[in-house]
Amino acid sequence: MHLVIPDVLFTSHTDPVGRAWLAALPRLAADLLDRWELRPDGPSRHGMASLVLPVTRADGTAAVLRLQPVGEQTTGTAAGLETWRGNGIVLLFDHDPDSGSALLERLDAGRPLSAVEDDDEALTVLAGLLRRLTSVPAPAGMRRLADIAAAMLADVPAALPGLAERTDRDLLRSCAAAVAEVLGESGDRLLHWDLHYDNVLAAQREPWLAIDPEPLAGHPGFDLMPSLDNRLEAVDDPARTIRRRFDLLVDALDLDRAQATAWTLGRVLQNTLWDVADGKGAVDPVQRAVTETLWRR
Ligand SMILES: Nc1ncnc2c1ncn2[C@@H]1O[C@H](COP(=O)(O)OP(=O)(O)O)[C@@H](O)[C@H]1O
Ligand SMILES: [Mg+2]
Repeated sequence: MHLVIPDVLFTSHTDPVGRAWLAALPRLAADLLDRWELRPDGPSRHGMASLVLPVTRADGTAAVLRLQPVGEQTTGTAAGLETWRGNGIVLLFDHDPDSGSALLERLDAGRPLSAVEDDDEALTVLAGLLRRLTSVPAPAGMRRLADIAAAMLADVPAALPGLAERTDRDLLRSCAAAVAEVLGESGDRLLHWDLHYDNVLAAQREPWLAIDPEPLAGHPGFDLMPSLDNRLEAVDDPARTIRRRFDLLVDALDLDRAQATAWTLGRVLQNTLWDVADGKGAVDPVQRAVTETLWRR
């Protein structure tokens, strides 16, 4: 099999682990096809981080071989998928912890939820999946929002000078204060952490199923951001859209509004800390719009 490695994977994986993984990728793919008795079945797909090969198993089942280097993002993925057992999310057939590779149920990659134009329709699907996924208690050993939130708060003082405008520094401080207040209620549910509209695919077992989790034990409010900030650049009245989406999500997941707000600000905090670490000196306008809209209510 001739493996074409997309350029974006070279852009995403620049550290030594990622580089070694890329260099060994053709060999790794061949080994896993062999070990799991798989036949390649069509052109490969990829995201920012992974290479995904459609395959057929020995018993004829359609599957995909998903390859991604071992790292922070893949820790807990297999344990999460094993816990969910396909309830609202792709099934895990097999995995190789040493290489971070997984054999997954094949869904319809040509029909992501992002292709559904009607915002309410797409959001209702996403909210339904979120409700199911986050109603499951996290298994023992899962990394915890409590620890991640505490680490974020510890990072704030060093990040503040990275923001040029006082209003941006105030925003970061406000988000940190909101998170500090709910730190004792950081939750124990199994969160997906990256449930955006390209991480939901049409399927046969169910109309729609989630893929690509980066699981976490925590409060479901921390999982709302990808549904709130989706395609926000394109809407006429962002504040109204954010309010409508937030209301729909809080209802669907039966959340306490104040906690859902605080944990969403926790996502703003996280995204902004990541941006500052990447050298960006200002708060992203979409993150600001979400913060100001929720703050005022
Ligand atoms: N189970 C699956 N069935 C079919 N296609 C898949 C499946 N999982 C992933 N894909 C395809 O591969 C792409 C990247 O996979 P994803 O798990 O989202 O990784 P990334 O972290 O790189 O976004 C998806 O956008 C989709 O097109
Ligand atoms: Mg993805």
